[in-house]
Amino acid sequence: MNYRRFGRTGWQVSDIGYGMWGMGAWTGSVDAESLASLQCAIDLGCNFFDTAWVYGNGHSEKLLGEVLRKNSGKKLYVATKVPPKNREWPARTSATVDESYPPAHIEEYVEKSLQNLGLQSLDLIQLHTWQDKWLTDRRLISALEKLKSSGKVRAVGISLNRWEPFNGVQAVRAGFVDSVQVVYNIFDQNPEEELFPACREKDVAVIARVPFDEGSLTGTLTRDSKWPEGDWRNTYFSPAKLPEVLSRVDALRPLLRDGMTLPDFALRFILSNSDVATTIPGMRKIRNVEANIAASGQSVLSPDLIAELRKHRWLRQLHSPQNKLKELVKRFLR
Ligand SMILES: NC(=O)c1ccc[n+]([C@@H]2O[C@H](COP(=O)([O-])OP(=O)(O)OC[C@H]3O[C@@H](n4cnc5c(N)ncnc54)[C@H](OP(=O)(O)O)[C@@H]3O)[C@@H](O)[C@H]2O)c1
Repeated sequence: MNYRRFGRTGWQVSDIGYGMWGMGAWTGSVDAESLASLQCAIDLGCNFFDTAWVYGNGHSEKLLGEVLRKNSGKKLYVATKVPPKNREWPARTSATVDESYPPAHIEEYVEKSLQNLGLQSLDLIQLHTWQDKWLTDRRLISALEKLKSSGKVRAVGISLNRWEPFNGVQAVRAGFVDSVQVVYNIFDQNPEEELFPACREKDVAVIARVPFDEGSLTGTLTRDSKWPEGDWRNTYFSPAKLPEVLSRVDALRPLLRDGMTLPDFALRFILSNSDVATTIPGMRKIRNVEANIAASGQSVLSPDLIAELRKHRWLRQLHSPQNKLKELVKRFLR
């Protein structure tokens, strides 16, 4: 396992971290399998775990707590998240701090998470959604600073809304966050434009989430893929969206070299970027843990291959002015 510096905290974290949403809230999760997978990852050197209160209303945190107690001799970094008070994902542009993260709500959920995890202090607390305009409300920054000075958290971060990497650049530049969590994968390359340079400048750690685009970049989806009722992936990969997803995935297959698998390719794309401190694939099975952690020791992709992958970028969020312009140019050229 390779380790990278986690921004200005100076922590050395495994470049393959652990995403814990699935085991807390997706259908098909089996606790015994999830716990065995977590243990396998620790044995293979993984030391960074990303969970959230909302992943099963504390369930994912409790699983992590169990594993932490079994591995008390090892330094394992725990990152969790405060859910927005109004339970809105993503945060609306019109949402206020009072609706989303009033200081008392942040304190309440830090206490809940500490209890679920069985810890006295958290390595990293992240706000689970974000709007840069909240920076103007000093109460938010004060609440997070207070948590740090109380010793209940060591570092603070924000988790940016899906496909809105531009909506976090101001927070990074303002200097109050130690980390940002952002969707970054072969399809979603937008954070490279503004967010990563800002993080580099301010020494803010980047957590690259959703490395497999929620599963499409594992190459395991088909035209018939569907999930039990209530599983959110039925919406993300709805029958209307699946054909385009699959054709974009198929377009990547000719680029695979020397027995490389698609998941390996997807992770190595992310790890080829030194702006990333860690990426956090969601994993509930030992075979996936073993395969993903093996990507850590592999070489980065060649500049030629990275250049080729630029053509596979997928602009799915039209809110930013840059994206709007690019999409218009693309449509015009088609
Ligand atoms: N707003 C936020 O802050 C936010 C939002 C989304 C995600 N996240 C974080 O980011 C993490 C990662 O995202 P994600 O879990 O949503 O999606 P993901 O990592 O893109 O994909 C997870 C899916 O890939 C499968 N998988 C993993 N490794 C595989 C392999 N080697 N071969 C085949 N399949 C493989 C997993 O299967 P199994 O589960 O069956 O092993 C799961 O179905 C989350 O767990 C969470 O910690 C945060």
